[in-house]
Amino acid sequence: MVAFANETVLNVRHWNESLFSFTTTRDSALRFRNGHFVMVGIPVEGRPLLRAYSIASPNHEETLEFLSIKVPNGPLTSRLQHLKSGDRILVSRKPTGTLVLDDLKPGRHLYLLATGTGLAPFLSLIRDPEAYERFEKVVLVHGVRRVSDLAYHDYIRNELPQHEFLGEQVRAQLIYYPTVTREPFVHQGRLTELIESGRLAADIGLPPLNPETDRVMLCGSPAMLKDTSAILDARGFTISPHIGTPGDYVIERAFVEK
Ligand code: A2P
Repeated sequence: MVAFANETVLNVRHWNESLFSFTTTRDSALRFRNGHFVMVGIPVEGRPLLRAYSIASPNHEETLEFLSIKVPNGPLTSRLQHLKSGDRILVSRKPTGTLVLDDLKPGRHLYLLATGTGLAPFLSLIRDPEAYERFEKVVLVHGVRRVSDLAYHDYIRNELPQHEFLGEQVRAQLIYYPTVTREPFVHQGRLTELIESGRLAADIGLPPLNPETDRVMLCGSPAMLKDTSAILDARGFTISPHIGTPGDYVIERAFVEK
């Protein structure tokens, strides 16, 4: 079997000049865990040009969804940003990754901490009924530079709570906390600062992060992962050492150099 499925682009949405998302058809044989990533790309001069993309759609949906930045002169994204419906795109057949619920020990609160396009795997997880069965509260923190970088803000805030099947769990259990660093917004500052200062805990009405009760998934830039991991480590959290062995937290870098 070839390593890639040839999918068709169904929809493209541009959030601002540097951020877009797209949906594609899904090979009926593709199985993945919510939080997984695949390789996505297009043939360039006869060869596949591919990068890792987290699947933003949940695995119960029939289509695939991806969130991407547009890197000026980026070999792949400078091309992908011109995608339109009907175009063909390659999607690898072997999803993988560390941001899976099975690699977290049981707990009460699940924190999904993302910056930038690190939001993508969590868009899948906040639509996974298992997340709401395993945890009492699911807290999604999305840190970005500008308000327009808050992709899916209206969807998470307004549409998902009305979802036919998930709405009730979302309304009761999902806490969405978008924060902006370089423009005025209702929540401001880096998520690391908001955790350290106690501001996040105070705003959402939950106790400070504690390994006894809380589990965490991180997805962002290398600097964000380093700084946030250091905070968690200092509070006694232990990272899942490898896929298949649960820990108090798991990390994946947002795949940005595209
Ligand atoms: P800031 O504006 O203070 O740099 P980027 O687009 O560079 O990945 O940044 C996305 C968001 O992540 C921005 O709000 C940025 O804040 C924030 N950020 C950058 N570095 C870190 C870090 N080390 N820890 C937490 N947040 C970070």
